[in-house]
Amino acid sequence: MTFIPAPDENLLTALADISDNCFSGVERPPRDFFKQMARSSKLFVYQSEVTWGPVRPIYGYLLLNEKNGDPYIWSIAVPGNYRGIGCGAGLIREAADYVKENSGSCLTLTVNVNNPAQKLYFNEGFRITAFARNYYGSENGLLMRREL
Ligand SMILES: CC(C)(COP(=O)(O)OP(=O)(O)OC[C@H]1O[C@@H](n2cnc3c(N)ncnc32)[C@H](O)[C@@H]1OP(=O)(O)O)[C@@H](O)C(=O)NCCC(=O)NCCS
Repeated sequence: MTFIPAPDENLLTALADISDNCFSGVERPPRDFFKQMARSSKLFVYQSEVTWGPVRPIYGYLLLNEKNGDPYIWSIAVPGNYRGIGCGAGLIREAADYVKENSGSCLTLTVNVNNPAQKLYFNEGFRITAFARNYYGSENGLLMRREL
């Protein structure tokens, strides 16, 4: 796991590819906007220590930003072939440690009511604080929060 203060263009492109593959519809940000957000967020990346030919596989990323004055997970994604082995939980714990080290006291996020990722968030100690009607176009969102 690495906290990356200044991602280079190659990494931003690789992360935008993951975002494109992991999100669809209104939940998929335009690539340029995603890159802009990645530059202005705290960026946590799980990346292989080993290079396979020209490729150094990425197992997931988390973009930590701010919303309403609270630390906010703006985006988290793990490519399909690496899911279910703890990468998502590891990214959240890393972000939580970072927030605590920087005197923050909570983590927040929004999730689509239909997204099974909620289970991961519940497991990691998040609880629902508000219902956001039509947050994702015609679909509703849940605001979740974890005290640290
Ligand atoms: C959400 C996501 C980052 C989780 O990554 P991950 O590495 O698979 O997460 P972990 O392995 O640490 O934990 C998986 C846990 O969450 C649940 N979970 C998370 N996403 C799930 C999904 N799409 N389908 C089924 N279960 C899911 C699992 O049941 C598992 O819980 P368990 O261990 O109690 O069974 C990944 O599924 C993803 O990239 N999804 C697409 C993008 C997305 O929806 N991001 C969240 C937006 S709010």
